[in-house]
Amino acid sequence: MAAFEPVLLRNRGVEGSTTLKVYESRGGYQAVRKALKQTPDEIVAEVKKANLRGRGGAGFPAGVKWGFLPKDRKKTLLCVNGDESEPPTFCNRVLMEHDPHQLIEGTIIAAYAVQAQTVYIYLRGEFHEQFHIVQKAVDQAYAAGYLGKKIFGSDFSIEMYLHRGAGAYVCGEETGLIESLEGKRGWPRIKPPFPAIEGAFRLPTVVNNVETLSCVPHIIERGADWFTGIGPAHSAGPKLFCISGPVKRPGCYEGAMDITVRELIEREDMGGGMIDGKHVKAVFPGGCSMGILSADELDMKLDFDDPRNFGLLGLGTAAAVVIPHDMDMRVVLRNMARFYGTESCGQCTQCREGTAWMHKIATRIAADAGRPEDLDVLLETARNMGMMPGLSICGLPDGATFPIETTVKKFRSELEEYILAQPKGRAEYLLRVLN
Ligand SMILES: Cc1cc2nc3c(=O)[nH]c(=O)nc-3n(C[C@H](O)[C@H](O)[C@H](O)COP(=O)(O)O)c2cc1C
Ligand code: SF4
Repeated sequence: MAAFEPVLLRNRGVEGSTTLKVYESRGGYQAVRKALKQTPDEIVAEVKKANLRGRGGAGFPAGVKWGFLPKDRKKTLLCVNGDESEPPTFCNRVLMEHDPHQLIEGTIIAAYAVQAQTVYIYLRGEFHEQFHIVQKAVDQAYAAGYLGKKIFGSDFSIEMYLHRGAGAYVCGEETGLIESLEGKRGWPRIKPPFPAIEGAFRLPTVVNNVETLSCVPHIIERGADWFTGIGPAHSAGPKLFCISGPVKRPGCYEGAMDITVRELIEREDMGGGMIDGKHVKAVFPGGCSMGILSADELDMKLDFDDPRNFGLLGLGTAAAVVIPHDMDMRVVLRNMARFYGTESCGQCTQCREGTAWMHKIATRIAADAGRPEDLDVLLETARNMGMMPGLSICGLPDGATFPIETTVKKFRSELEEYILAQPKGRAEYLLRVLN
């Protein structure tokens, strides 16, 4: 098998990779020149043919999304989703930190394809350094005539703005992002209308992830057939995978979506195996929101389809966190529940109350005060919230329930043992303190 050639990370480690000069010396901004000689519809068709599926979590095909825009629209906005708040995900950060011009080039091509003359790059509040790196690159692109009026001497003009969030997970959800961009509280909107019809400032809006847009120059430069030739048919193209936890080489790696979770952990050029003789007990392979795998499920493929065969919500952000054999699963359960309990925006009752209940129950289990019925209450709560049962405005509660539900189901006997082994009388005492 031919060795995988990194595309998205090809400039990482190259001195001056964030500068326009170095980016151009390595072939940068050729794809956009090629794109501007084609019609917008031709670009959309090429991206559709490549079946570029969104890297932000849902895997929705970018070209199809672009095709949803009303034909008779007067104005279009493009929002780049650089919120990246999903724990433990950092591939967008790596792309912005090492190759901001690749993102800018992909964004210009996408903006041309959907005829968006105004572009916002929305960055999570904590990305201070990345904000300055991307802003500097944007300034360089303006100075070169690649942004602004009549870019590259064409008839097309783009204004690009950076917008910083204030660090809320829910602002990564596209309509929460749009509200936040408008200067309001980041509360997701009821859909429909979808952003393609009525998005930011009530205008047709496309929201795409940083990694999705970073793929676009390569599709234009090398063609859709090249892209579909990488990885499985429904999960084509290069993909970034993150890995963290007690592995030898935590980091962000690029590959085709034909690798397994085991390979991501063990390959010498990826995770490099576990440290200090530790063994894998569990893995959250797609960011935490997708759910957990047990140690005997590591042959799951990191593509858009296989995660569902393992009871997970999806591929998510393809960012794995490895849990070692000596980790108490009550701590994992509580960590998950605490995160979502504090990140629910509170608009929908079942999400606001459900995430808070799950946090409270997981906290008492971790504090040796669990009740035998608590695990079933967690599962029942999880079943009764979320967008998929049609109960919520956004997908946050789906992402909140999968880690809880899969941890309870896959590690039930361990959690039950802890509850049964609690010192007698302690549960009653702690319940009084905690409730
Ligand atoms: C709670 C929540 C948080 C999200 N956070 C992000 C995020 O940080 N970055 C991102 O690109 N997409 C995030 N998404 C998905 C976006 O709503 C949207 O689908 C995505 O930005 C579209 O880009 P793509 O099609 O290129 O993947 C989130 C969704 C939900 C429900
Ligand atoms: S589902 Fe949760 S996070 Fe989403 S809008 Fe409703 S309360 Fe807010």
